[in-house]
Amino acid sequence: MKISTSFLSSPNIPKDLVKLNETDTDYIHVDIMDGIFVKKKTMPFKEMRNIYKYTSKRLDVHLMVKNPKKYIKDYASLNTEYITFHIETDDVLKNLELIKKYGIKCGLAIKPNTEVKELVPYLPLLDLILVMSVEPGEGGQKFIDDTENKINELKVLLKEYNSKALINVDGGINKDTKDKCKNADILVVGSYVILADDFQKKIDEVR
Ligand code: DX5
Ligand code: ZN
Repeated sequence: MKISTSFLSSPNIPKDLVKLNETDTDYIHVDIMDGIFVKKKTMPFKEMRNIYKYTSKRLDVHLMVKNPKKYIKDYASLNTEYITFHIETDDVLKNLELIKKYGIKCGLAIKPNTEVKELVPYLPLLDLILVMSVEPGEGGQKFIDDTENKINELKVLLKEYNSKALINVDGGINKDTKDKCKNADILVVGSYVILADDFQKKIDEVR
């Protein structure tokens, strides 16, 4: 299982990014919030871009924003592997194309109440699908058990529509809930790792 570590709940981002760089986490999950699509707001790009100073890991960018277009160019300019935005936004096709234009892999995220079948028209275009296992907006929430069914349903659809796309699961992942995500390819882990002393030990437990 690949691991993408989120630093959203970090009390000291530079320090924790340096520490994470010494682990074998596959990606750094960068949560971006605009105060509109979700209540909270993350720091502006001119500050967020500085994460390159502390990590050499590839970035897995998760845009929890109403207007992804405003963010894509900026985040495409970093050491970015994936840019993922939400299906619950406007201009989905245009924004997927924009991400591809920058040579970055594209992902589409679904909130807990959005049905997997809504993804079908987009599946052939996607490199990644991010299944939210909590309501987007903050770290440290409890994993929603129904996510297991959604992952399994998506896995079946991908066999038909796009066998190369990866399934990423985000929210409330720990050593117990990871067993509900066996059909995923990547797990986003936030507070379980970042609020612990030994990052590598926690990563090993969910991998
Ligand atoms: C939630 C964010 C997640 C979050 C995960 O809105 O998208 O990436 O940081 O953190 P944990 O693992 O603490 O739920
Ligand atoms: Zn996220």
